[in-house]
Amino acid sequence: MSAVDIFGSVNMGYVIVDSLRLDDWRRFLKQGLGLHEAAADDRALAFRVDAHARRFIVRRGDAEDVTVSGWQVRDAATLAIIRERLAARDIPVETGSAEEAAFRGVKSFIRVRGPKDMAIEIFTDALLADAPPRVLPSGFVTGESGLGHFAITSKRPEKMLRFWQEIFDARLSDRIAQPMAGIILDISFLRLNERHHSIAVATTRGLRLDPIRTRVQHMNLLVETLEDLSAAFERLTDLGYAMPHEIGQHPNDREVSFYVLSPSGFEIELGWNALRVDEATWKQGSYNAISVWGHKPGRNSSIDKLLLNLGNFRRGLGSLLNAEYSPF
Ligand SMILES: [Fe+2]
Repeated sequence: MSAVDIFGSVNMGYVIVDSLRLDDWRRFLKQGLGLHEAAADDRALAFRVDAHARRFIVRRGDAEDVTVSGWQVRDAATLAIIRERLAARDIPVETGSAEEAAFRGVKSFIRVRGPKDMAIEIFTDALLADAPPRVLPSGFVTGESGLGHFAITSKRPEKMLRFWQEIFDARLSDRIAQPMAGIILDISFLRLNERHHSIAVATTRGLRLDPIRTRVQHMNLLVETLEDLSAAFERLTDLGYAMPHEIGQHPNDREVSFYVLSPSGFEIELGWNALRVDEATWKQGSYNAISVWGHKPGRNSSIDKLLLNLGNFRRGLGSLLNAEYSPF
């Protein structure tokens, strides 16, 4: 298609979670992960992690899931290239209203119906706050790396990967084949910028199941220091949040992280010290396990929370019958 390569010009800007558990999300994000609450009413919560006016939004809705992800692109020229690519594939594009843009903390945006029915929104300019964020960690790692990453399970991984590769020029950083409950989970890690991956796509080898109820299996945020990570772990544990995977390290991006169950039932991975990819020297790798050490289930993972995950898995068997939406 286009001869222009927009790799490095795209990063995760914001997310929207739909949930009926706003009080719990507020406690989880503010007191637990330590984000800055920028706005809260009985319809929505908005949080900051850096100069952006809004990064993490929870709005009242019954999906209990990430329903929207917003992607910041460098400039109008990059946005025009993306629009061309979408048009060439007959993927319908909507323009967000001024009210919707304000709700997201951006000047304007466009929206497409993305893989697995997540709304993919694209914008150039974020609204910035006047004062530095008041967060509990010393800082969250964003900038050129963007807000974080998603891990998404898919029954149509080839199509999902193609969406990110063909529209955003994503590059494959590496692959991991993880044995799990008698099956192999194949995970492909895609980067859009210096962050080792902004999207990880996981699929069951052989019979394709989607064991996860939610669109995202987890969303990741990075903190600046090891002390930030350990303090957040202690806060979340003290608040009673379940840890499906306690602290451990991944082999590919070398990140040290833990996974906590969010109020909506998908996981949030909080990490530290993920490498930044140097395009000049990077070699695509492959690994046989998702963790070098750790990431074991936490002792405080209460029975009902674990059953929630088990419920997700049972639902996954039902997923054999459900079509997974792809814009391609
Ligand atoms: Fe992750």
